[in-house]
Amino acid sequence: MLKRPRRNRRNAAIRGMIQETHLSTEHLVQPLFLVSKENSREPVKALPNTYRLGIKETLKEVEDSLNLGITNFILFPVVPDQYKDKFATYGYDEDNFYLKIAAEVKRRFPETCLISDVAMDPYSTDGHDGLVRDGKIINDETLPILAKMAVAQAAAGFDLLGPSDMMDGRVGYMREALDAAGYMDTGIMAYTAKYASAFYGPFRHALDSAPRGGDKKTYQMDPANQREALIEAALDIDEGADFIMVKPALNYLDVISLLKNNTETPVASYHVSGECAMLIAAAEKGWLDLDQAVQETLLCLRRAGSDVIITYFTKHYARLMKQGHLPEEHKEPKTHARSKRTSMPAFIKDYKI
Ligand code: PBG
Repeated sequence: MLKRPRRNRRNAAIRGMIQETHLSTEHLVQPLFLVSKENSREPVKALPNTYRLGIKETLKEVEDSLNLGITNFILFPVVPDQYKDKFATYGYDEDNFYLKIAAEVKRRFPETCLISDVAMDPYSTDGHDGLVRDGKIINDETLPILAKMAVAQAAAGFDLLGPSDMMDGRVGYMREALDAAGYMDTGIMAYTAKYASAFYGPFRHALDSAPRGGDKKTYQMDPANQREALIEAALDIDEGADFIMVKPALNYLDVISLLKNNTETPVASYHVSGECAMLIAAAEKGWLDLDQAVQETLLCLRRAGSDVIITYFTKHYARLMKQGHLPEEHKEPKTHARSKRTSMPAFIKDYKI
C-alpha cells in the first residue's frame, strides 16, 4: 500500500501538525439576558446554566468571563409587559434599563466587544420583529423604528449592532442613520441568513418574546433554501455590513461554507438556544459527554467557515480551556519512545556513541 492516511494520524504530534482548524475563546461570543431588577439571577428553565441577570449580576458575570479570556458578549433584554407597545418605543427610550446596563458594562470594562440585537420583538406587544398591521409585517415602516433603536444602542456604547429582524433594506437604512448621528465606528453584524427555525424555542421562553399571532415565515428564510442566502449576503454587504451571520448554525453548515467561500466579509454563526439545549438534555440523560460534544460542535462550526461563533457554551468552553481540558490531541498520555526502549535499535548498534 503506497498511501496509508492513518500514518498522519499516528500520534498527537503529527495530528497537531496537520490540524486544519483551530478554535479558541477569542472566536466566541457569550449571550447574556438582562432584566431590570438589580439583583436578579433567575435560571432560564429551557436552557440550563443560562440566567436572566440584573445589573449587579451582569457586571459580575462580565468580570468573571473576562478572567476566563472571554471578551465578546451579545446582550438581550427581557422586557416587562408594561413597557411593550405596538411600535416598540421602549427600544429607544431614555430610561431603557438594557441600554443603561450596557453603558455601565462598557464604562467599567472598555476592553469588551458588546453586541446588541436590533429587532422589535422583545419590545413589541405583537412579538414580531417588524411592525404588524392587519396581520401583516410591514417592511418599510419598520426601518425608521430599527434605525432609532440602532442609534440609541450606539449611543449606549455598543461596538456592533446585529439587525436580526430580516426586513429588506435594514442594513443600509441603519448604516445611514448611524453615520448621520456620528456613529461611523459602530459596526453592523447582520443576521444575513436567518431561518424560520424551531430551534429558537428556549430563547423565546427566556425573553417571553414569542409572536402573539402567526409565525415569522414572511421575513425569516425558508430552511429549504441555500442559494437565497447569497442574495441576502450580497445585499447586506452592499449596504455596509461588517459581518454576515448564519443562524441557526448546525443544520446550516452548508450555508456557512457557501457564504465563507463566496464573500470576503467575516462570517459569524449563531449556535442558537435550541441547538445548545439539545446537547445539554442528552448529556443530562447520560447519553453523551457534554465536554467532548461541546468541543467537537464548536470546532465543526469553525471548520464549516465561521470566523465568529455566538454560543451559550462560550463560558463552558473557556472553562475547559482554563482547566487544561484541551482537545483530545493534547490530552493523550505522553509515551516517550526513548524511556520505554530497552535496547538500541539494530541499525544504531553498529555505531560507537
Ligand atoms: C430576535 C432574535 C431571536 C433570536 C435572536 N434574536 C428569536 C427569533 O427570531 O424569534 C434567537 C436566538 C436563540 O435561539 O438563541 N429577533
